[in-house]
This record gives sequence, C-alpha cells and structure tokens, in this order.
Amino acid sequence: MPKIIFLPHKELCPEGAVVEVEKGESILDAALRSGIDIEHACEKSCACTTCHCIVREGFDSLEESSELEDDMLDKAWGLEPESRLSCQAIVTNEDLVIEIPKYTINHAREH
Ligand code: FES
Repeated sequence: MPKIIFLPHKELCPEGAVVEVEKGESILDAALRSGIDIEHACEKSCACTTCHCIVREGFDSLEESSELEDDMLDKAWGLEPESRLSCQAIVTNEDLVIEIPKYTINHAREH
C-alpha cells in the first residue's frame, strides 16, 4: 500500500505522521482518517482552498488537477508549483510527502 508522509505542522500534527493509504483515496480523506484535521470548509466540493497542501514528493504520480481545482488554487494562501487541493488529489501507487501550509486563506485573513 502506498503511504503518505505528512511533514510536521505545528497545530495539526506536530510530530508529522506516516499514513497508509488505499489507491483512489484523497489526501484529505487519508489525513482526516488519521486524526490530522486539515480544514475542509466546503466539505470536499472543490469550492474553497482551505484544504490546500503542497506535494513535496510524488506530485507527478497524482491524477492531474481539473481546471476548477486550478482556478481555486490560484486563491490559496502560499501557492507553490506543487500545490494541490487535498480533497481533489487522489493517491495512486506511489508514496507522497505532504506539507500542510502554515495558514489557510481563513487564517490569513485573521492575521
Ligand atoms: S475542502 Fe474545499 S476545496 Fe477541498
């Protein structure tokens, strides 16, 4: 089974985590299942950016993002070339290394 390595995030997983995933599962679902509470304000319908993550390894193994996802991503806080919306990013056979950005757009507004 492929696995996802979540890099440490101060609030969500201070020690980082390694999660086994089923092929076809989204990065967000794998995280939530493991108690890593990534925000998902639109309930996974590709209509917010709060589930934004950065794929540090394995980016090319993911199914390609849709145009809608790309449009949404443009609004994400801390966008990088390897950014994805974790609710839309479906795991295939390869391991991934995921960074959860420090802020979401909700936080960024507050700070
Ligand atoms: S939860 Fe809103 S886009 Fe992923």
